[in-house]
Amino acid sequence: MRITELRKKVGGMEIHVPDLRIESGRIHGLVGPNGCGKTTLLKMIMGIIRPDSGTVDFEGLRPTDITMTSQRPYLMRASVYDNIVYPLKIRGAGIDQGEIDDLLERTGLLPHKHQYAGSLSSGERQKLSFLRAIVFHPSMILVDETFSNLDPDSEALFREMILERREKDGAAWLIVSHQWDRMNSIFDEIHHMEKGRIVKRDGNLNGAIK
Ligand SMILES: Nc1ncnc2c1ncn2[C@@H]1O[C@H](COP(=O)(O)OP(=O)(O)O)[C@@H](O)[C@H]1O
Ligand SMILES: [Mg+2]
Repeated sequence: MRITELRKKVGGMEIHVPDLRIESGRIHGLVGPNGCGKTTLLKMIMGIIRPDSGTVDFEGLRPTDITMTSQRPYLMRASVYDNIVYPLKIRGAGIDQGEIDDLLERTGLLPHKHQYAGSLSSGERQKLSFLRAIVFHPSMILVDETFSNLDPDSEALFREMILERREKDGAAWLIVSHQWDRMNSIFDEIHHMEKGRIVKRDGNLNGAIK
């Protein structure tokens, strides 16, 4: 995916991204202070917010290949299971019950499979929203601070699952995270955003970003 000359006035500033490329098989980090425009940028990529000008070229990806997990996960008023299989149902994809159970097991949600999603703890809700995002093997996943409230073990598990998906599906990831959190260790490249601009990029060839 490639962004060219994207502009949007929002909250008394202008988001301006002249050129940003999100490549498959790579994990891109997007970091920056509160209010610098990260969520708005992700929403423009998703087509939820319309830019004032500029283009987002998906380079062959279809809208149904892309997904976003938000800061405040929205869950359906239904069971954990119904939530996780929903993305497969709307895409008319088959449901591999073994794979669903495996995902639930790995994240500790299996005992909650038939529980009402609204009654999950906040960490469990974040896990469920993450599973719902990856269950259909999307080609591009945008993650908006979904990992902020997780305990270190769960965070480590998510890092492992993201790396796995990069290898297996060749998925492209764009992950918004805090500058100081542990997600940084898996980024292939990191984009620093300030006041609507990407002010610095760090490339990373061997997991060497600190
Ligand atoms: N719909 C809106 N109307 C007015 N201001 C907005 C709107 N959405 C976001 N903003 C403002 O735009 C700025 C960037 O917001 P956001 O993209 O959510 O930042 P970040 O995700 O980096 O914290 C903030 O100052 C925010 O208050
Ligand atoms: Mg945000």
